[in-house]
Order: sequence, then C-alpha cells, then structure tokens
Amino acid sequence: MKKKKLVVFSGAGISAESGLRTFRDSDGLWEEYNVMDVATPEAWVKDQELVLEFYNKRRAQILEAKPNLAHISLVELEKAYDVTVITQNIDDLHERAGSRHVVHLHGNIRYARSTNPKDQHLYPISGDNLNFGDKCPAGFQLRPHVVWFGEEVPLLPVAQKIVEGADVLIITGTSLTVYPAANLVRYAGFRCKKFLVDPHTIHLNDIDGLEIIKEKASSGIPKLAQQLLLEPVG
Ligand code: APR
Repeated sequence: MKKKKLVVFSGAGISAESGLRTFRDSDGLWEEYNVMDVATPEAWVKDQELVLEFYNKRRAQILEAKPNLAHISLVELEKAYDVTVITQNIDDLHERAGSRHVVHLHGNIRYARSTNPKDQHLYPISGDNLNFGDKCPAGFQLRPHVVWFGEEVPLLPVAQKIVEGADVLIITGTSLTVYPAANLVRYAGFRCKKFLVDPHTIHLNDIDGLEIIKEKASSGIPKLAQQLLLEPVG
C-alpha cells in the first residue's frame, strides 16, 4: 500500500534543545544582533567580513551540535510514512539525524554560493569558515547559501506543492512570523491532519482542525510520532 504523505514544517525551536539559539525567544539571536547588520543584502554590501563572521560563528556552533530526540523521532516516522521535512533552519540536524527528504527553505549553512548571479552552483564548505577572499572558480566572492531578509525564497513553489499534497502536517519550533515561509501551512488541504508542537502559544486560529501540543519538541514530537505509528492516519 502506498504510504501516506507526512510533511514537517520546522523552525529554530526544533534545534533549541541541541544547543542552537532560536531567533525570537528571550535569549534569541536577534536580541544580540541587529538583523539588518548581518542578514540582508544591504549588510553584505556594507560589510562582507562582518556578515561572514556572523555565519562562521553559526556554522561552528552547528558543527558542534547534535540532533536531539525530536529530529530522531521524525526519522522513525519514515517507517510508515512518506516523510518530507521542510525546514526554515540553515542547520543540517535533520539530515544528520537521518531524514532522507529535507527542503531547506532558507538555505544551508554548510554551503556557499557565488556572488555571480549566473552561477547557481552550491559549494560545500569543508570546515567552519568561509572567508573574505574565498572565490568561485570564475573569481567571484563566495557568500553563505542563506536566504536573507528581502531576498526571494526560490524553493517556495516546491514547498507549496509538497504541503498541498500532505495527509499529515506537523508544524514545530517556528513562531510563524517570517513570510512568505509562514504562509506555507495554509496550503494544507482540509482533509490533512494538522499538529502544532511548540511550548509557547502560537496564534493560528484560521487553520481548521489544528491539534495543539504545547510541549517542547524533544518531548512532544516523540509522543506524537509514537501515536502516528501506532494509529496510522487512514
Ligand atoms: N521546542 C519546540 N519549539 C520551541 C522550543 C523547543 N524546545 N524552544 C522554543 N521554541 C519555539 C518558540 O516558542 C518559537 O515559536 O520555537 C519558535 C522559534 O521562533 P523563531 O525564533 O522566530 O524561529 P523561526 O520561526 O524558525 O524563524 C524563522 O526567521 O530570522 C529568520 O531566517 C530565520 O529561518 C528563520 C526565520
């Protein structure tokens, strides 16, 4: 029998218990940094070294972090479901846990891109650092493979189709405040079973039948995964 399609829409909160800070919680990254200084095309024009240093720090922390029980339980679900993870995270903890289909809406910090707009290659970054002076073969400065504020989200149409086809949608670890990504959850059909796992209150009143599990991802996701494996969505 064909497996049901289960889609996970994740954000920074799923990696919080792996030691990676979220953006908008009280100790969030945007409390320490001004987003306009480090995560916009304007910031890149103004001070490339500062932007590179910001992402080099993030990359170093990500390389030290390990997937937690939430990432791992989502892999378990692949036994019974056709699982796709759509993540806003630039960390690779879903892949390191073993998830086989991961769409990185906002990029992946382990890769660089050329600043030559005609070059669409992704260049793997082997260690922690991408430095000023690191160039693509054609001689253009490399930049982090990250979608900055004010830039297009190239994988959005792909992600929309995936959400439209979902039989089950699990939303976790995202404040749903960053658009256009946040709107994706509204593309799920009315027959799709929808769950939201977050320790804080997220206002999503316009989504019918949403089941809210007010827990941290590392406890809420394993319980939900167990439930979905024991009583498969039919
Ligand atoms: N388990 C689950 N959720 C958690 C946990 C946890 N242990 N800890 C915090 N959260 C939740 C918070 O309650 C909040 O709803 O994670 C969410 C984090 O929200 P944000 O910091 O806004 O992160 P996110 O939604 O991923 O941000 C979206 O903003 O800055 C940009 O590009 C960046 O992709 C990012 C985008």
